[in-house]
Amino acid sequence: MAKLFDVVVIGAGPGGYIAAIRAAQLGLATACIDEWKTADGKPAPGGTCTNVGCIPSKALLQSSENYHHAAHAFSDHGIQIKGLALDLAQMLRRKDKVVRQNNEGILFLFKKNKVAFYHGRGSFAGGKAGAWDIKVAGKPDETLSAKHVIVATGSTPRALPGAAFDDKLILDNDGALAIPEVPKRLGVIGAGVIGLEMGSVWRRLGAEVVILEALPAFLGAADEQVAREALKIFTKQGLGIHTGVKVGKVTTGRDVRVEYADGVGKAQTLTVDKLIVSIGRMPNTEGLNAGAVGLKVDERGFIAVDDECRTNLPNVWAVGDVVRGPMLAHKAEEEGVAVAEHIAGKHGHVDFNTIPWVIYTSPEIAWVGKTEQQLRSEGVRYKAGQFPFMANGRARALGDTAGFVKFLADEKTDRILGVHIIGPMASETIAEAVVAMEFRASAEDIALICHAHPSLSEAMKEAALAVAQRSLNV
Ligand code: FAD
Ligand code: NAI
Repeated sequence: MAKLFDVVVIGAGPGGYIAAIRAAQLGLATACIDEWKTADGKPAPGGTCTNVGCIPSKALLQSSENYHHAAHAFSDHGIQIKGLALDLAQMLRRKDKVVRQNNEGILFLFKKNKVAFYHGRGSFAGGKAGAWDIKVAGKPDETLSAKHVIVATGSTPRALPGAAFDDKLILDNDGALAIPEVPKRLGVIGAGVIGLEMGSVWRRLGAEVVILEALPAFLGAADEQVAREALKIFTKQGLGIHTGVKVGKVTTGRDVRVEYADGVGKAQTLTVDKLIVSIGRMPNTEGLNAGAVGLKVDERGFIAVDDECRTNLPNVWAVGDVVRGPMLAHKAEEEGVAVAEHIAGKHGHVDFNTIPWVIYTSPEIAWVGKTEQQLRSEGVRYKAGQFPFMANGRARALGDTAGFVKFLADEKTDRILGVHIIGPMASETIAEAVVAMEFRASAEDIALICHAHPSLSEAMKEAALAVAQRSLNV
């Protein structure tokens, strides 16, 4: 006899596990199914983000930055290190340990919130509105009956045509986080978020890094001025970034050869020891047996949903990377919570205008709201105010003065339309801008708030002051 649940969530990434916890907190009998496993076959909930995404990449970014600082920045602070050495195996072990802590944390949260966890693949096995049958392929197989289903099956890396991932020479995000020896020459296809973050990790550890990007513009989604500044800084750090290229044949032997046409159409060959391919991700609906129940998928393979994550089937919802919108963990989480609230008959809402973006390079890049180029193309009249970290006391004390904060505000109402940061700890500082925009603040609101001194957040206040041409420290 099938076990009956109010909510069955398929996938325990940030979208799924957060949806399950919230649903259980709201008093709904909830199960969550996830198939990710550790090398020794144990459950590893947390999805891409925890296992091969956000968490391990940030662990390696931190470790590699520490190493880089010890090698290049400590002497400026009067700290001399003799015999500095890289223990890459330990760095990778530490990263794996951080991942395990997060897997275990999620299993603990499931227990605490009384979410029934099933380890295995979940798929539609039939049923009807209000009583969907969900099969869990495990030992043995089980069938759950669900009043509501939340699909949160995430995404998988896109491969280059004709160059399948082989886990040895041509690597996806998983392989990029586990290279056992620092490659002498590392190639990266795609100068997006993964390319820049993973390129930075291996560059700091000593690899020569060349990144090939198809689009003519670098970091097209970011504010143009931020993108220009980033390109300058990353190039100085030794990332060889080539834009406007057309990647052709990729061949492997002892190393990897990438044939490509450069920005002016000239034929070139890049020979590297390892190649990371980071050209975007695809929604993952494989194994769901979506066809059996007629779950609609759009022309790009995403599960089709409305603004509130409802699919074409009654009581079947979908959240996170498997649906439209940015592929970000915090967007998946917000959707998961909103759906659980809807199911419980409450209000749930995700404001797509205030989802922050962060790229964890050094310096970090973070933004929320509109870029200057978007405002121009939409014909919106705006004022801009900017403040460089060079003029911020805390940044100088840190020895981390590259970059700036830029506020964009409506010309008439002064309402904040976008905030763009390239600089130290931008991932943290951007939160103030998100709060301000959620509360419909004006630039003046931020300019009139007392910010602690010395702090990086003072650059926010100064950039807001600059909107009214009232900067104090430049
Ligand atoms: P996922 O995290 O992909 O989880 C889906 C889960 O469902 C997986 O565990 C999968 O095994 C399981 N599953 C799939 N099908 C089935 C099935 N049929 N049955 C059972 N289980 C199934 N985002 C950020 O916001 N910040 C970052 O810093 C960041 N860094 C990243 C770094 C890298 C290298 C990568 C690759 C991604 C990064 N992301 C980051 C993106 C982030 O990881 C995703 O947006 C997020 O994981 C999406 O969450 P999700 O719950 O939709 O799906
Ligand atoms: P991406 O979409 O960020 O970047 C892919 C890049 O590859 C683009 O610049 C694209 O123009 C380029 N490209 C596509 N096809 C190409 C080709 N054939 N040749 C050369 N270049 C090509 O995707 P990425 O970096 O793979 O990351 C996937 C997703 O994971 C991101 O969209 C992001 O949402 C998420 N992510 C988020 C992070 C964060 O929030 N800090 C960190 C890492 C990933």
